Amino acid sequence: MATIIDGKKLAQKIQESVTTEVKELVAAGKQPGLAVVLVGDNQASRTYVRNKQKRTEECGMKSVLIELPETISEEALLDEVAKLNADKSIHGILVQLPLPKHISEEKVIDAIHPEKDVDGFHPINVGNLYIGKETFVPCTPAGIIELIKSTGESIEGKTAVVIGRSNIVGKPVAQLLLQENATVTIAHSRTKNLPEVARQADILVVATGLAKFVTKDYVKEGAIVIDVGMDRDEFNKLCGDVDFEDVKETAGFLTPVPGGVGPMTITMLLANTLKAAKRLER
Ligand code: GUN
Repeated sequence: MATIIDGKKLAQKIQESVTTEVKELVAAGKQPGLAVVLVGDNQASRTYVRNKQKRTEECGMKSVLIELPETISEEALLDEVAKLNADKSIHGILVQLPLPKHISEEKVIDAIHPEKDVDGFHPINVGNLYIGKETFVPCTPAGIIELIKSTGESIEGKTAVVIGRSNIVGKPVAQLLLQENATVTIAHSRTKNLPEVARQADILVVATGLAKFVTKDYVKEGAIVIDVGMDRDEFNKLCGDVDFEDVKETAGFLTPVPGGVGPMTITMLLANTLKAAKRLER
C-alpha cells in the first residue's frame, strides 16, 4: 500500500517560510508584488487565477489582477506587459495560458522581462535551466521535485520516467530530475511499449492530460508516482492522470488528486515571486 504524499501539507509548510520572508521585506518597505494577467473568460483559468490571488494575498504580497477581454489585440496585450515590466511595484508577471487563438503565446512570453518571469517560461530562463544556471524554475516542475524530496528517498542514480513533453511540465521536470542525478527518460504519446518503459521507473511523473491513463501495468513495485493530472472521470468527478485505486497497492509513494501537485504549484509561484522581489530590490 503506497504512502500518500500530502501536497497540501507540504505547500502550507513552504508557504509559511515564504510568508516569514515577505514580512521582513514589507517591514523594509519592499513588498513583493505579483501581477496576473487573465485574458477572456475560460472558467478553468478563472478558478486558477482566483486561487493564485488568494494565496498571494495570504502571504502578504501585493496582488494585482489585470482582466482583459477575449477580443483584445495582440498589440494591446503586449502594451499591458510592457507597462508591468516598467512598474517598480511589480516583481512577478504571470500571463495565464492558454491565450485566445489570435494571440501568439510565444510573443507574449518573449515580451515578459526575464527578471519578472515567475513562470520560468521565457527562453532566457528556459535556457538557464537547461545549462544548470540559477533561474526561475517553472512552478509545477519545481513543486514536483519538492514532493519527491519530501518522501526522504534520494533521487540520485534512480531511473526516472516522465510521461509528457510539454514546455510547462514534461521538459522542465525532466531537466530538474537530470540535475538531481537521476537517469531520465522522456516518454510521450508516440513512445512504443509505454507500459514497459514506465515500469522501469523508480520515479514516475505522469503529465498526459488523460484521465486515469496510468494503471498498475505502468508501475514498478515501490515506485514514487507523481500525478500531474487535473481531469474529470466518467462521473465528472475530479481525478488525475493516474488511476489512483488501481495503482495504490503497487506504488511505494503516490500523490493524490486533488491535494498533491496542485497546491504545490501555487506555493512555488509565491516562492518565485519572493525570489524576484529579493533580486530586483537588492
Ligand atoms: N496555465 C496552466 N498552467 C499554467 C501555468 O503554470 N502558468 C501559466 N501562466 N498559465 C498556466
